[in-house]
Amino acid sequence: MALRPYIVGNWKMNGLRATLAEGRAIDRVAARYPAVDVGIAPPFTLVHAMAEEAQAMAVGGQDVHAKPSGAYTGDISAPMLEDAGARFTIVGHSERRSLHGESNADVQAKAVAARAAGLGVILCVGETEAERDAGQAEAVVSGQLHGSLPSEGAEGLAVAYEPVWAIGTGRVPSVEDVAAMHRAIRADLVSIYGDAGKGVRILYGGSVNAGNASELLGVADVGGALVGGASLTAESFAAIINAAA
Ligand code: G3H
Repeated sequence: MALRPYIVGNWKMNGLRATLAEGRAIDRVAARYPAVDVGIAPPFTLVHAMAEEAQAMAVGGQDVHAKPSGAYTGDISAPMLEDAGARFTIVGHSERRSLHGESNADVQAKAVAARAAGLGVILCVGETEAERDAGQAEAVVSGQLHGSLPSEGAEGLAVAYEPVWAIGTGRVPSVEDVAAMHRAIRADLVSIYGDAGKGVRILYGGSVNAGNASELLGVADVGGALVGGASLTAESFAAIINAAA
């Protein structure tokens, strides 16, 4: 099954470095690549303004709360994100799992809530360096998938494989390791969703940049990229979108 490439920038907490102006420039780049799905997940403070202007790219959240509303100071719900113009959200990023103590069950509840609000979901999984060194990488990722993917169907889902040790470090796994992990993730998706699991895009994330994007995106079953640092300027992000086209 040929899936449309999906290139998503996660700006993390860099909303003063990457601004609305950069978002506009990325939207103009996205317009030149109609065969590529392009998304940007800016900080919440920029979601509404970026979504109002975006023509060719989708704007999304970096995280979402599992409840639709209530006394949750500082949190943003899926219906609120949708109301602000977001079309998708990331859930289960390793920075949420490690810095905010999110469990697989927490991530699953967020994914369910996001889809109930009509948002696409990019669900992140990935092993630590110690887990890879111990030969546990595929087992860890499989456990995360089984524990955090919603059970009700694959619609609107993408999975991002992000080895924790590759995030922001300039280190990337070998293409063989990326291929093996994406193959294993595909097998898990099919075991969970049946044939519908073949239609879920599996993104690679972790130190993707203009120099390595072509090679990584050329690996079997790498259906796109979740990009941190290199998505903060339209220039570097454009090279990655171009590599996917
Ligand atoms: O969500 C994006 C990832 O954490 C990758 O970040 O491209 O800066 O390594 P990075």
